[in-house]
Amino acid sequence: MRIDIVTLFPELCDSFLSASILGRARSKGLFEAHCHQIRDYTQNKQRQTDDYPYGGGCGMVLYAQPIADCLRAVQAQCAEQGRGKPHIVFLTAGGRPYDQSTARRLAACDSLTLVCGHYEGIDERVIEAFADEEISIGDYVLTGGELASLVVADSVLRLQPGVLAEEQGFQEESHWDGLLEYPQYTRPEVWEGRAVPPVLLTGDHKKIAAWRARQSHARTMARRPDLYEAWCRTHPLTPGRWKRSERAELIRTEAAWDAAAAIYAAGWQQLCAGVCTPEYIAAHTPQVMKQQLLADRAAGWAFYLHSTAGVPDALVGVCHKTGEIGRLYVDPAAQGQGIGAKLLAFARKKLAEHPQPHLYALDTNRRAIALYLRMGYRPAGVGCVYDPAVDPNATVFCREIKFIYGTKNSG
Ligand code: ADE
Repeated sequence: MRIDIVTLFPELCDSFLSASILGRARSKGLFEAHCHQIRDYTQNKQRQTDDYPYGGGCGMVLYAQPIADCLRAVQAQCAEQGRGKPHIVFLTAGGRPYDQSTARRLAACDSLTLVCGHYEGIDERVIEAFADEEISIGDYVLTGGELASLVVADSVLRLQPGVLAEEQGFQEESHWDGLLEYPQYTRPEVWEGRAVPPVLLTGDHKKIAAWRARQSHARTMARRPDLYEAWCRTHPLTPGRWKRSERAELIRTEAAWDAAAAIYAAGWQQLCAGVCTPEYIAAHTPQVMKQQLLADRAAGWAFYLHSTAGVPDALVGVCHKTGEIGRLYVDPAAQGQGIGAKLLAFARKKLAEHPQPHLYALDTNRRAIALYLRMGYRPAGVGCVYDPAVDPNATVFCREIKFIYGTKNSG
C-alpha cells in the first residue's frame, strides 16, 4: 500500500510514520509513505497558504490551489508507479465518523491520500473537486487534521499484511469482531495488592478463552450497548441440543407451581435489583409470585417448568390468545448454560399458530435484550415506562421494550 499525507506539517507526520511498529514495517517496505508540504505548491511570493474567509468571520481558510496542485502531483506519482487513482480523504471535523469498519475498507486501497486541513478550514471547492470522502475522528474539534490523518494512517497501516507480528493480534482486538477487548495482565502476579485473575494462571487454554470471551461480552454490554446490539444482530444464536436429562413440562402440580414461583422470584429479584426499591423487591416473595402465575394462567397463559436431571432450574410462559412469550427466567445458579435460548425456541414452537410471537424486556436487562436479538427478535416500540418521579417503587427511569420475532425494523 502507498499512503500520502498532504499537510502543512510533513515532518511531524513523517516522524510518526518512522517510529516504532510502523517505522519498522516502513523500513521493511511493507508499505510506502510520503508526506507532502502544501506550502511547496503555493504560487505567491510569500508562499502564503491561507486567507480570510469570504463573508467574514474569524480564522483563516486554506487556499484551494496549492492543495489541488499537490493532489495532482500525488496522482501523477501514483500513475508513474502503475497504480490506479489514489483514494482521497479529507480530514475534517464535519466528516463522517471514523470506525474500524472504515479502517478495514481503507486498508483495502492500493493508494490512500489523506489531506489535513488547518485553521478554520479548507476552501470547499477543492474538497468538492477532489474528495472521495470526508472523515472525522470524533465529535471534537482539533486545531488541524494532522492528528486525525495519523489516527487513520495508523489504524489502516496496522492492518497491512506483516505489519503486526502476529495476525491473531488484530483479530482479537477491540472492534475487530465488533466487541471490546478483554482485559490484559502481565507480571507481577500481584501488583500493589491487586492479583491477576486466577484463571489466567491455570494454563487451561479452553477455560482462559471462555473467560476472555465472557469479559469481552460483559465489557461491551456495559460500556458500549450500541456496539453490543449491533454485534447481537449480526451474530445469530442457534440453541444447543437438549441434554438427555433436560425436560420442559407443562406446570400442573402444586410442587411444580412452587418450584416455578421460587425460580420466578429469584430471577425477578435479580433483574429488579437497582431498578426498584429494596422494600418493593423484598415484597415479591415466592408466595406472591405464585399468585401472579396463577392469575396469569386464569387469563390464558400456559407455563412450562424446565428441569435438568430432575432439578427445576427455569421457567417460561406462553399466551396462546395473544402470541406473547413471558416469564422467561433461569435460576441464577443455572445461568450461562444456554437454557434461556433453548426455552425461548421451545416457547416459539409452542406458539406455532403465531408466526411472529412477541415479548418484552426492560431496557436495563441487557442479557435478555442480547438473547432476544440473537434469537431473531427485533425491537418494535415501547410498552410500560417506569419513572421514579411518578412511581414510588422505581429507583431508575426505565422502559419496557417490545420485541417481535422475525421483523426487520428496529425500534
Ligand atoms: N479536524 C479538526 N477536527 C477534526 C476531527 N475531529 N476529525 C478530523 N479532522 C479534524
